[in-house]
Amino acid sequence: MRKKLVSGIKPTGTLHLGNYFGALKQFVDLQNEYDSNIFIADFHALTTIQEKEVLEKNIINIATDYLAAGIDPNKVNLFKQSDIPEVTQAAWIFNCITTMPFLMRAHSFKDAEAKDKEINVGVFDYPILMAADILLPSADVVPVGKDQKQHVEITRDIAEKFNRIYGETFKLPKPIILEETETVPGIDGRKMSKSYGNIIPLFATDEEIEKAVMSIRTDSKAPDEPKNPDEVIIYQIHKLILNEEEDKKIRGRYESGIGYKEAKDLLIKDLKSFIKPMREKREYWVNNPQKVKRILKKGAKKAKKEISKKMDEVRNKIGMNL
Ligand code: TYM
Repeated sequence: MRKKLVSGIKPTGTLHLGNYFGALKQFVDLQNEYDSNIFIADFHALTTIQEKEVLEKNIINIATDYLAAGIDPNKVNLFKQSDIPEVTQAAWIFNCITTMPFLMRAHSFKDAEAKDKEINVGVFDYPILMAADILLPSADVVPVGKDQKQHVEITRDIAEKFNRIYGETFKLPKPIILEETETVPGIDGRKMSKSYGNIIPLFATDEEIEKAVMSIRTDSKAPDEPKNPDEVIIYQIHKLILNEEEDKKIRGRYESGIGYKEAKDLLIKDLKSFIKPMREKREYWVNNPQKVKRILKKGAKKAKKEISKKMDEVRNKIGMNL
C-alpha cells in the first residue's frame, strides 16, 4: 500500500516563493509517490481573517494556485479543510488530553503573544487542529517548511498520548523538510513571510518581480569586489531556480566580483522565465472557477470517506459509540 502524505496552506493572502519552495513544490514532486491529501487550511485562517469576502476570495485563490503550480486533482485529494468538520471534533478530543503548559511552549504562540496582547484562543489551540488534520487521515509524512517543524512534533506527542490512554489508534507522522529550502529568505533577509511584507509573490507579474528584486537588501561592497554568494540575499533567492551548472557559473561571478545591479538584473530575467509558465497556467483556472470548486468538492468527498472512518474508530475508543 502506498504511504500517505498530508499537508496544507492557510488562505491568508498571496502565495510566495517561500511557500512554493518550502512546501508546495514538494506536494507536486511527491504526488506520484504518495497518496496525498492537500488542503486549504481555512479553519486555521480564521485566527486572523474575519471578513467573509476576503476569506472566500483567498480560498478560491489558493485552490487556483495549487492547480497552477501543478497539483493534479486526479492524483491528489485536493480540498478545503472546512469541508471535513470531523477535524474540529478530533481537535476538541485532543484538547482534553493536552495540557496548557505543553501548548504554551509552541513558538508560534509565544511569538504571537509577544506581539499581541489580545491574542485569540484559536492561535493558542492552532497546533491541536493541525494534529487533527494530520492524524485523522493517518499521515506517514508531512512536507512543510522549517517553521512548521514544531507543529509536527506536537502532533506526534498528541498521537502518542492518545495511543497511551486509549490504545493504539494513530500513526506517528514524520515531517519532510528539505534542508536547502527549509527557510527561504525574503527581500530583507528575514524569513519570507506575508506578515513581514518581504515577499516575492509566486505568481508575480513582470513588474512585481522587478519591483521586489530591486528592493532586495544589499551591503555597500563595490561592484568589482569579490563576494561570498552565501551571504548575499540576491544569490540565496536566485539559487532556488538555478540548475547545478547555472549555479556554479553564478557563484563564480560573485566570487570574482559582480555588481549588485547586474546580479539583480540576472535574477529578474530568470525569475520572469520561471514564473511566466505558471502564471499562464493559472489564467486557465482563474477563468474556470466552477471547475475549481468541483475539484474541491470531489477531493473533500474522497478525503472524508477515510477520515470519517477514523473518526468513528476514535469515538468508539473514547466511549461515545453506544
Ligand atoms: P502556512 O500557510 O503559513 O505556510 C504554508 C507552507 O509554507 C511553508 N513556508 C515556508 N517554507 C520555507 N521558507 C519560508 N519562508 C516559508 N514560509 C512558509 C510553511 O512551512 C508551510 O509548510 N499551519 C500551516 C498550515 C496547516 C498545515 C496543517 C500544514 C494547517 N494544517 C497540517 C501541514 C499539515 C501554515 O500555517 O502554513
